Order: sequence, then C-alpha cells, then structure tokens
Amino acid sequence: MRTVAELIKEGVAGRRVLVRSDLNVPLAGERITDDGRIRASLPVLRALSDAGARVVVCAHLGRPKGAPEPRYSLRPVADRLQELLDRPVRFATDTVGAAARAAVAEMADGDVTLCENVRFEPGETSRDDAVRGELARQYAALADAFVQDAFGAVHRRHASVYDVARLLPNYAGDLVLREVEVLRGLASGPVPPYVVVLGGSKVSDKLGVIEALLPKVDRLLVGGGMCFTFLAAQGHPVGGSLLESDLVATCRGLLERAGDRLVLPTDVVVAAEVSAGATTRTVPADAIPEGDKGLDIGPQTVARFAAEVAHAGTVFWNGPMGVFEVAPFAAGTKGVADAVAACPGMTVVGGGDSAAAVRQLGVDEAAFGHISTGGGASLEFLEGKSLPGISVLED
Ligand code: 3PG
Repeated sequence: MRTVAELIKEGVAGRRVLVRSDLNVPLAGERITDDGRIRASLPVLRALSDAGARVVVCAHLGRPKGAPEPRYSLRPVADRLQELLDRPVRFATDTVGAAARAAVAEMADGDVTLCENVRFEPGETSRDDAVRGELARQYAALADAFVQDAFGAVHRRHASVYDVARLLPNYAGDLVLREVEVLRGLASGPVPPYVVVLGGSKVSDKLGVIEALLPKVDRLLVGGGMCFTFLAAQGHPVGGSLLESDLVATCRGLLERAGDRLVLPTDVVVAAEVSAGATTRTVPADAIPEGDKGLDIGPQTVARFAAEVAHAGTVFWNGPMGVFEVAPFAAGTKGVADAVAACPGMTVVGGGDSAAAVRQLGVDEAAFGHISTGGGASLEFLEGKSLPGISVLED
C-alpha cells in the first residue's frame, strides 16, 4: 500500500486529492454527540492541505436509501470539520453533481471541500458492479488521486470505498495504516493471556468473530444484550431481555466448545423499561424475573471481568455491556472501560459504540493502546475476512 507521506513526497500542490473519510458520527438532530471519527480523520486532511493539495472529502452518514434525506446531510459535519481543522471547509450540496463539480473547480491549493453524503447516490451501495463503476467514474472525475482513510467503511464494497480506488492512483491514509497495523498484531500474535470482551445488542452480529476468536483467546467475556441468548442456551429464564431465539442452539454449541474460556455474567441489572428514572434491581443472571429486562451487567460480573482483564497481556473490547447511554445502566460499561484502561498490556477498543462509550463515560482515551474507529470493519478484520477497501489498495 502506498502512503500519504509518499503521495506528498511525489508533490501534491495543485493536485486534486479525493479522500474517503469515515465521518459517520452519531447525531441528535443536527447536534453531533460524539465527534471521535471527525477528529480521527483530521491528520490526513491537514497534512494534504498543508502540502497544497486541493482536498475533496467524501463520506457517508447513516443509511439513507440512495436519495437525499435532510436528516442524513453531512452539513453539520462540515461545520464541525471546519472548526476542528481550523480552516475553511466548503460544503458541496450534492455528491457528484453540479454543486460538487463547481466547488472543486473553484478550489485553490490547500482548500478543503466536503461533498454531500455518498449514500444519497443510488449507485454507491449498488450490488451491480456496472452501476457502482459508473458512479465511481464520476467521483474519479473530481480528482487526480485517491486516499482511503475511512477505516470504518473498508468492509463495504461501495463505489466510494472500492470502485473509485481502481480508477485513480490510490494511497492508504494514516488512520487506515494504523488500524491495520494494530489489528494485524491482534490477529497474528497477541501477547497472552489474550482476553476478549464482547458486548452489544445482537449475538448475530458477533457469531463470525466469536468463531474466529475462540481458538485464539484465553478468555472470552460476554456481556451486553447478546449475553441473554447465551444465558437462555444454558437454560436460564431471561424475562423480557433481548433474545435471539433462533440462535439459542448455536450459542449452546459455542458454550460447549469454549468450556470455561467463555465467561458469562453472574448478575445483571434489570428494570421494567429503559428510562433514566427506571427502578433498577440487581438479580442473579440465572433468575431474571419474568416482567424484567436485563439492561446491564451487575457489580459481581464487573469485578470478575475486571479481574480477568487486569492480568491480560492483550485485551480486545468490542461492544457496550449495557444500555450505557441511560445513566442507571452505564455502570457495567464504565467498569469494563476502567478495567481495560488500567490494564498494563496492549489494549484495543473496537467499534463505534464502545469508542463512543469511552468518551461519553469520561474515561481517558490516552489510557488505551488503540481505539479503533471501525466497528464492523474491525470485527470482519479479526474474522479474517478480506476487506474490499483494503485489498483494492494492495492490488
Ligand atoms: C460504521 O458506523 O461502522 C461505519 O461508518 C460503517 O457504516 P455502515 O455500517 O452503515 O456501513
């Protein structure tokens, strides 16, 4: 993979460089609730702009269905990017149309333009190679070189991630290089004991990674909504907790294969509903009352997970332990975050939600070895899948 440093060395002054960034940030209305991905995108944009490139940024936000939807506009992101870069960022109100072409034509050396959400274009996520290819040609017409820095999106075979990289001289951004280096280290030779903490709501999203990691880990600690399908597989009642009943048998098989390496919660925080004012109780994980939902791991489980993490040589943590956005259900995720932060081994936080939790819960980001910007991308990397946005840079 060629690097941005090499691109800059070749000379970028006056050249138009299309950068695919992952600016998919959580929004409450137009308010960005966690700008971590924008911050992570800054170094490459700043370096290119400093070197005199005309920097054209493209990115997605949310999952619009191939047509403009105001709530998924990147305009608030452009405003935040401008603040953080501390230089003007022009926002083009379309992706490859007249507005984008005019904005790019008017750029001076060092200027930065952010184009509207790539997923407003029906071709972006098309399964038809020819349709994506046609859109990619329009992206390519806006630039002379392409930089892939959207690590969080490299598992998507989309026009702005994969196809355009085949049409322009391509380079890996610093964020992509760092992510790949760290995850390769985890995949090839993690320092033992290797402890993986998995959470998040759905076990179906994690089956692949659990299969891939089981032979490699010393401990797999499971919390979050996904733990209830495992608890059900052990024959325990889970009340109104999240349950993927079609996966109970699969989870039973995983439990049998994993033996004592897979550790489930022994206590959970339950409530009748998810609300800031909810009355909560901590109950044994094998006795969740019928009218209650498990919404966080309990203190005994936090202590057990923390003890496992404390002596780990390597920790990979993906997915919150409970509904951390709502105060009464945040303690489990905070406890795990603190434990991972305190671990002297190599620690990697994977995923949008866990990274956002770290920042939202006020845990020092600098205490972690690496905070990945990619949720699905980092999981697919660890599963050993080929990631289109990376492999196209290696061709
Ligand atoms: C993410 O949020 O994980 C990335 O930005 C990819 O988004 P997607 O899952 O909508 O493709």
